[in-house]
Amino acid sequence: MAATTPLELDGAVKRYEGASGTVTALDGVDFRVGSNEFVCLFGPSGSGKSTMLNVLGLLDSLTDGTLRLDGEDVTTLSIEERTEVRREYLGFVFQDYHLVPTLTAVENVELPTVFDGRAERERARELLDRVGLGDRLDHKPPELSGGQCQRVAIARSLINRPSVLLADEPTGNLDRETGKVILDEFQRISDAGVSVVVVTHDPLVSDYADRRLDLVDGELG
Ligand SMILES: Nc1ncnc2c1ncn2[C@@H]1O[C@H](COP(=O)(O)OP(=O)(O)OP(=O)(O)O)[C@@H](O)[C@H]1O
Ligand SMILES: [Mg+2]
Repeated sequence: MAATTPLELDGAVKRYEGASGTVTALDGVDFRVGSNEFVCLFGPSGSGKSTMLNVLGLLDSLTDGTLRLDGEDVTTLSIEERTEVRREYLGFVFQDYHLVPTLTAVENVELPTVFDGRAERERARELLDRVGLGDRLDHKPPELSGGQCQRVAIARSLINRPSVLLADEPTGNLDRETGKVILDEFQRISDAGVSVVVVTHDPLVSDYADRRLDLVDGELG
């Protein structure tokens, strides 16, 4: 069987219609990521980075063009189908972690499987162990450092065994040394067969990524 591309955008256009006119946030973007590949996407503020990540993550739809996941066209799915595809294929890491402050680290990581009625507590423990937090399972986010919170968020993003991991400014709130720990983790994750896409302003990320792309005014350079 021919190898498929985990993530593929063809001629992607995204326009926002607002009171003050139309904004073209993505202007004909062709983009693909292989498995085992760690790609970073740079660009100035307003260049379309978050838009692109939202489109890749099926959180927003394209105005024109095609998005394929593992060779399947997922451009025009219903809301329910998108949710299903997100759960099956995608992991997300956000700049501000998006952890539930009243739950422990292990409960936060387990949470996506609790919603599915599977409650994979043991896998949640293993993932926290893998990101070096085996001794912080029962700590709540307010009792953890920023870097530790980000590692909890990374562990949570992996609980459903995604093919693709998408991260928006994952090192934005971290000091340089902690940022390096997180980037090491992304390298290990991509080496283990997950496609990793990081959108960032942080020049350190390009030292760790396999490939760097620049987005300017909605176009990839
Ligand atoms: N919901 C929306 N409605 C209208 N315009 C939007 C919307 N979201 C984004 N835009 C516009 O689309 C363009 C791209 O925005 P986007 O958030 O993707 O930029 P970005 O590269 O992530 O910027 P930053 O580095 O500041 O996060 C901007 O001009 C922005 O104003
Ligand atoms: Mg952004």
